[in-house]
Amino acid sequence: MKLVIAITGSTGVIYGIRMLETLKKLNIETHLILSEWAAKCISLETEYTTDYVKSLATSTSDEKNMASSISSGTHQVTGMIVAPCSMKTLSAIANGYDDTLIARAAGVTIKESRKLVLMVRETPLSAIHLENMLKLSRLGIVILPPVTEFYTKPKSIDDIVNHGVGKCLDQFDIEHDLYPRWGTL
Ligand SMILES: Cc1cc2nc3c(=O)[nH]c(=O)nc-3n(C[C@H](O)[C@H](O)[C@H](O)COP(=O)(O)O)c2cc1C
Repeated sequence: MKLVIAITGSTGVIYGIRMLETLKKLNIETHLILSEWAAKCISLETEYTTDYVKSLATSTSDEKNMASSISSGTHQVTGMIVAPCSMKTLSAIANGYDDTLIARAAGVTIKESRKLVLMVRETPLSAIHLENMLKLSRLGIVILPPVTEFYTKPKSIDDIVNHGVGKCLDQFDIEHDLYPRWGTL
């Protein structure tokens, strides 16, 4: 299994970082793309450096590098997760506007009929955001906002973040213990 992981400039970059930490522990190969604004959000919202975040991935590409392996459908990957996904990147993906490697790799994932999971983050959502999500959902893209649950009684932000990451990994049938499942509580 090999996953493309993109982190964009939305609040909640910790979701993408926790995703990479988890996949590294599980020995799952990852290819990371960080947007320029993701890097800024990492320094604004977390104690991590972009070098640390990049070190979690098996390989990385600059978001401007359209010659990256993952820019082509001939390069085989299992699928892609954008966590978190800004409304700008959502729009680029929904409209096939491949101005960054993140949008291009997502477009490749769609055209090659591979699984794409978007952890979209904005509130409230405008009709433009909702239309972009609906368009992609109808094509089979998984729209997975980081909406927490309370029946597991989360005790910390870590619990909440782990739940969101676990829900993304569930989409790829990756075994994990990031959150307790209903029926085991
Ligand atoms: C601290 C911070 C938080 C932000 N949060 C969001 C957000 O939750 N959702 C969103 O769509 N954009 C958010 N933005 C705005 C995006 O960063 C901006 O639209 C940017 O162009 C996204 O580019 P990217 O998708 O290439 O990373 C935020 C920006 C900053 C600085």
